Amino acid sequence: MRVIIKKNYEEMSKEAAEIIKNLIQKKANCVLGLATGSTPVGLYKELIRMHKEEGLDFSQVITFNLDEYYGLSPEHPQSYRYFMDVNLFNHINIKKENTHLPDGKVPIEKIEQYCESYEDMIKKAGGIDLQVVGIGGDGHIGFNEPGSSLNSRTRLVALDEQTIRDNSRFFEKIEDVPRFAITMGVGTILEAREIIFLANGKKKASIVAKAIEGPITSQISASVLQLHPKVTVILDEEAASELKRKEYYKFVYEAEKRIGLKLF
Ligand code: PGA
Repeated sequence: MRVIIKKNYEEMSKEAAEIIKNLIQKKANCVLGLATGSTPVGLYKELIRMHKEEGLDFSQVITFNLDEYYGLSPEHPQSYRYFMDVNLFNHINIKKENTHLPDGKVPIEKIEQYCESYEDMIKKAGGIDLQVVGIGGDGHIGFNEPGSSLNSRTRLVALDEQTIRDNSRFFEKIEDVPRFAITMGVGTILEAREIIFLANGKKKASIVAKAIEGPITSQISASVLQLHPKVTVILDEEAASELKRKEYYKFVYEAEKRIGLKLF
């Protein structure tokens, strides 16, 4: 794992945007895996800036999002489709038909078949070149709550109590938070060719340390990223504050700059 520690949220977001920009410039029709939540908002702002000021071209880019609340329509202001439109897609030259999120309104009896078709779409697009993930307070990536199989695929899941509490800040009242979601599985995420793992703020410090330096366990889905050969973890100082090997990660990052190579 590359672990990059930046001094603040803005620097963290810029570092992640640079990686995505480099990929788009190398492969105009790349497939991006995207995430929602507070964490990637700064990254999306920077990508919008790169599009507007530097002409970064999204016209051939294809995207797949990790997850969607079950029961919310795309027009619902708390749906992840709405979030992606407002925070990224409406401001860049991406084709809407190239952007994919799980459908939160699939009838319950069709869910299994639908989830398989989401996986098929990813495969047909050539697989995900670069997946962005954040981490939940309970260690989830996507909505893979504690106990999710490390081989899990796209499926319907029940949200953990902590997730419902954490996400209630976006809803009028906690009762409005959906109890279920459709999420890519841990196994689906691991098939991406490259992964960027973002976290910021003091609140994430303890779970980040467990995910990166603790044992691999289905109790903390993010810990499985240790098995992936090409993960770049980008943190701000606060989220990195409980890492034991912080100084080593900083040393490696400086060494990378000297030799001009990424050291995973
Ligand atoms: P957050 O959520 O970015 O809003 O902290 C992260 C997550 O739940 O994956």
